[in-house]
Amino acid sequence: MRVSGPSISLNKVSRHYGKVRAVDSLSLEIAAGSLVALVGLSGSGKSTLLKMINRLVEPDSGAIRIGDEPVESIDPHILRRRIGYVFQNIGLFPHMTVARNIAIGLELAGENEARADRVAELLDLVELPQDMASRMPEQLSGGQQQRVGVARALATRPGLMLMDEPFGALDPVTRDNLTYQYKALHDKLGLTSIIVTHDMAEALYLADRILVMKDGQIKADATPADLLSGNVAEEAEALVAIPRAQAAHLIALSKLS
Ligand SMILES: Nc1ncnc2c1ncn2[C@@H]1O[C@H](COP(=O)(O)OP(=O)(O)O)[C@@H](O)[C@H]1O
Ligand SMILES: [Mg+2]
Repeated sequence: MRVSGPSISLNKVSRHYGKVRAVDSLSLEIAAGSLVALVGLSGSGKSTLLKMINRLVEPDSGAIRIGDEPVESIDPHILRRRIGYVFQNIGLFPHMTVARNIAIGLELAGENEARADRVAELLDLVELPQDMASRMPEQLSGGQQQRVGVARALATRPGLMLMDEPFGALDPVTRDNLTYQYKALHDKLGLTSIIVTHDMAEALYLADRILVMKDGQIKADATPADLLSGNVAEEAEALVAIPRAQAAHLIALSKLS
């Protein structure tokens, strides 16, 4: 597999809001080309962590590097072209066509590349039909809109994708399809991806590595196999117990029929 994504390194990174330690002296190394799931209860610091990597939020202290470069030394415009960012409420511009929504990053970057060609390529990549290019966002289903969000994030050919509960608002079947297809895209493009999810089952089948956050810190850092075997910290065990029990129920049910 060709890897185009960078490694990421955080060294004792903190961001506090008053008394709240959103991210608390967190250190982490992510290898180039990995697909990492970030899980944890609401308020555990997941979004703040992602936003410090693309400089939407500045850390109070600590160092963040993308590849060999300290993030603060990278021009924010360049950083945003190198990092695709997908968030839960998609944020498509309602008064712009799908094509223009996808191309907005190229437009902002002053990219002279033939935009229509690139949009066509991106629609293919996220498996949307070409005739969607001229539609308005409100004429798309939630799943289709989220595919447009992924296409937009990929437009500038970033190596790193930061995805904050990207498929959380979708029905389970659509979410499952998109999750599988995203994993295939990640592999095909050789990306480095960090995906925040509430859904432990999704994390278990999607990721190479699962980070469990609580109170601004990483409480468990494990492979899906480790997590399933139950050989992990208590905080992680509490999260993994639910999908494990659900799987056991389903297996028991299937034996009854
Ligand atoms: N801009 C902000 N101002 C004040 N508090 C914030 C801000 N952003 C996040 N927080 C707080 O930091 C903590 C972590 O938030 P967040 O990173 O959004 O968690 P998560 O994404 O895991 O739900 C929460 O207690 C949240 O209320
Ligand atoms: Mg969040």
